[in-house]
Amino acid sequence: MDTPDYAFDQIESERLILRRFRDSDLEPFLAYRADPDVARYQDWEDFSRPDAERFIEGVDSMNPNTPGEWFQCAIEIKSTGEMIGDLGMLTMADDPRQVTLGYTLSRDHQGNGYATEAVLRWLRYVFDDLEKHRLIAVTDCLNTPSFALMERVGMRREAHYLQNIWFKGAWGDEYQYAILRSEWGARAGR
Ligand SMILES: CC(C)(COP(=O)(O)OP(=O)(O)OC[C@H]1O[C@@H](n2cnc3c(N)ncnc32)[C@H](O)[C@@H]1OP(=O)(O)O)[C@@H](O)C(=O)NCCC(=O)NCCS
Repeated sequence: MDTPDYAFDQIESERLILRRFRDSDLEPFLAYRADPDVARYQDWEDFSRPDAERFIEGVDSMNPNTPGEWFQCAIEIKSTGEMIGDLGMLTMADDPRQVTLGYTLSRDHQGNGYATEAVLRWLRYVFDDLEKHRLIAVTDCLNTPSFALMERVGMRREAHYLQNIWFKGAWGDEYQYAILRSEWGARAGR
């Protein structure tokens, strides 16, 4: 698929619904984005109510598979209806067959395998439905839960950058992880 997926509504896994954001997500979204623990390795700081309102206002116009743009997808627990985090996907402007993934869970919902389940389901959408060639994710080398997650879902560490980013007042080191469609297929036994 090489056009924006305007039809995207939601996809499901065993315990989760990955869906478009709604106005009612504002409070839980603000709560986890404003949490300094959640923000530590993210590119925001002091996330405010106006920041959250701007996000919710703008998120409707985002569609997956739009070259050069991020799509943000809310993660909801099926059994309770709670919105517990989000996945973000950037379709690369210079080669839309490649995408970058990001993910965030509220602190209360970490440690239950929800991020693993959400990312595995998203990989299925990316490779089986959108037929992407390659997905990458980049993380601060100090963010152990993030790269542990990448390894759990079968991503490969392919770069270790030293002091490549000026991040929150100091030079930071980053890992880049990737998975190819062929690797995803092999993992799925195809
Ligand atoms: C990165 C992040 C999403 C990882 O969250 P997480 O809760 O560690 O990951 P999961 O939801 O997959 O849960 C895995 C943990 O739950 C445990 N677990 C419990 N039930 C499980 C199940 N059914 N399936 C898999 N794991 C399960 C695992 O053993 C693992 O625990 P461990 O870390 O003690 O080994 C989270 O730390 C986060 O949101 N951080 C802040 C935002 C951020 O930094 N994002 C990344 C930017 S690059």
